[in-house]
Amino acid sequence: MSGEEMFERVQRVAETITRAFDPCPRTAMVLGSGLGGLASSLETPVHLPFDEIPGYPAAKVEGHAGRLAGGTLNGAPVLLQQGRVHYYEGHPMESVVILARGLVLAGVRVLIVTNAAGAIDPDLGPGDLMRITDHLNLMGRNPLIGPHHPGFGERFPDMSRAYGPEVGEILDRAAAAKDLTLHKGVYAAFSGPSYETPAEIRMVRTLGASAVGMSTVPEAIAATQMGARVGAISCIANSAAGMSHSGISHEEVLEVTAEAARRLAEILITALPDLDALAGR
Ligand code: HPA
Repeated sequence: MSGEEMFERVQRVAETITRAFDPCPRTAMVLGSGLGGLASSLETPVHLPFDEIPGYPAAKVEGHAGRLAGGTLNGAPVLLQQGRVHYYEGHPMESVVILARGLVLAGVRVLIVTNAAGAIDPDLGPGDLMRITDHLNLMGRNPLIGPHHPGFGERFPDMSRAYGPEVGEILDRAAAAKDLTLHKGVYAAFSGPSYETPAEIRMVRTLGASAVGMSTVPEAIAATQMGARVGAISCIANSAAGMSHSGISHEEVLEVTAEAARRLAEILITALPDLDALAGR
């Protein structure tokens, strides 16, 4: 596919979003596995199912609703993305990031990405929340590979701007205001879908990773290239492979995240007015 074709596809996504949510909120939040509950707090919600978004393969993984929900929370407008497409489902990276790109093209200036992750840092355990301060992309693929279109930004975007301090400070302040602990750390992304081996976890621990998962990095790279401010929070669902004596199951991941999701929702709801103000600057 040419860069022009890719850009046109993203334009169609952006137009669909703009038609459904008028005006398009300046803040969007991607809610990962088991983290979609925040959407039930939305006032005056409007929904756009993924299967009505051209070019976005509708997400079918358990724990994912598969839609965009727009409305207000704590007095500020927001778009919530309930569920996401993962690289491990076999979709090309362009499809994995098409919605993040469409959101930014439609006017989103602050993108908060959430996920369920495994703990590598021994200070982290199931139920903890960790703000991502940086990432290691070990997915074996970068979403910007392929023909370039200047509409997306620079060919070689600076990734030291991702997970920037402005969004980070707002999230930290919101957590403190609610007396909730928000850890900080580096997120290592593997493609999955098998969980990592203990040797892989030892490797990324040596490389400085605090948590591990299978998402977030593609969206963060694509949105950062387009100039959006990106923040991200991992909800720790389990100890990463070899870090505890028990194995890892997807059911356990969904169960633990259900409780932590309530704390995460509190932080995001509290942060939203400040995020919206930042997005307007
Ligand atoms: N590894 C990768 N992805 C995950 C994990 C994990 O341990 N837990 C939740 N998502």
